[in-house]
Amino acid sequence: MDINKITIIGGIGKNGLPEKVERFDLKMGDIISIVGPTGCGKTTLINDIELFANRNTPSERQILINDEPIPDDFSFDPSKHPIALISQHTNFLSDLPVGEFLQIHAKIRGSENTEKMIKETLDFANQLTGEAIIRETAMTELSGGQTRSLLIADAVIIGHSPIILLDEIENAGIHRTKALKLLKKYDKIFVFVTHDPRIALLSDFRIIMKNGAMQKMIITNVEEKRAAIGLKKIDDVMLEFRKRIRAGEEITDVVFGDQIKSLATSYDFYLKRKRA
Ligand SMILES: Nc1ncnc2c1ncn2[C@@H]1O[C@H](COP(=O)(O)OP(=O)(O)O)[C@@H](O)[C@H]1O
Ligand SMILES: [Mg+2]
Repeated sequence: MDINKITIIGGIGKNGLPEKVERFDLKMGDIISIVGPTGCGKTTLINDIELFANRNTPSERQILINDEPIPDDFSFDPSKHPIALISQHTNFLSDLPVGEFLQIHAKIRGSENTEKMIKETLDFANQLTGEAIIRETAMTELSGGQTRSLLIADAVIIGHSPIILLDEIENAGIHRTKALKLLKKYDKIFVFVTHDPRIALLSDFRIIMKNGAMQKMIITNVEEKRAAIGLKKIDDVMLEFRKRIRAGEEITDVVFGDQIKSLATSYDFYLKRKRA
């Protein structure tokens, strides 16, 4: 089945009242975020999407594919399942080496040139993580960041999944902006559950959750897109401090002042650009 669009139709929140967001569509190429405090129902929402809920989960939401509901007894051929969910807690039972794990997946998915796929997947993953993944390493030995990076790359390249759901990847030591930039090249739907303001502002729109319900949808406007660029600068400054502290440096007034000045310079630049 070719998926062009999926639709999320609101159900009820934890208090049993209808959700304020009645429905929204996700089209190929969309990147969206789901935001809200812990316990507000973000994971539940992406699980509903993954399950193609049909008013049969506690939230009573319904998911449509190309405007059609999915019958309760419908199940995808697992080798062609269109959704990949990269969850918050990833534990591998298999201690296969990375290369063999990817090879098995590529074979299940019916890939023709498995060797090329494995190479591409590792290259992609290694652009996302700071610590390179080696083919011979056991899956169980990978760090959190390496695991998430590998799973994202595997879902995009070997799994070929048109819809990719990512639950709070930010704690895992992944280059987030790089990831978003790379992912934008693929014509897929990406749904990020996130507490990261930059991921939220780099998305096309975001859903705000509260008390188990979709409360509000905000489309990212030009001001927010500008703010996202400014936040990158702040992030870079934080990374610079992290690098220096890790390297055993002491942070002096001069070092601190220089970094803050670099922020002020980019703020001046921003004001000029805004007026222009
Ligand atoms: N619409 C809903 N109806 C009933 N229970 C819900 C609903 N949304 C979330 N919950 C419940 O609330 C709890 C927290 O939800 P969860 O999705 O894990 O939050 P988050 O991922 O934002 O931290 C879970 O036990 C979940 O089953
Ligand atoms: Mg959660």
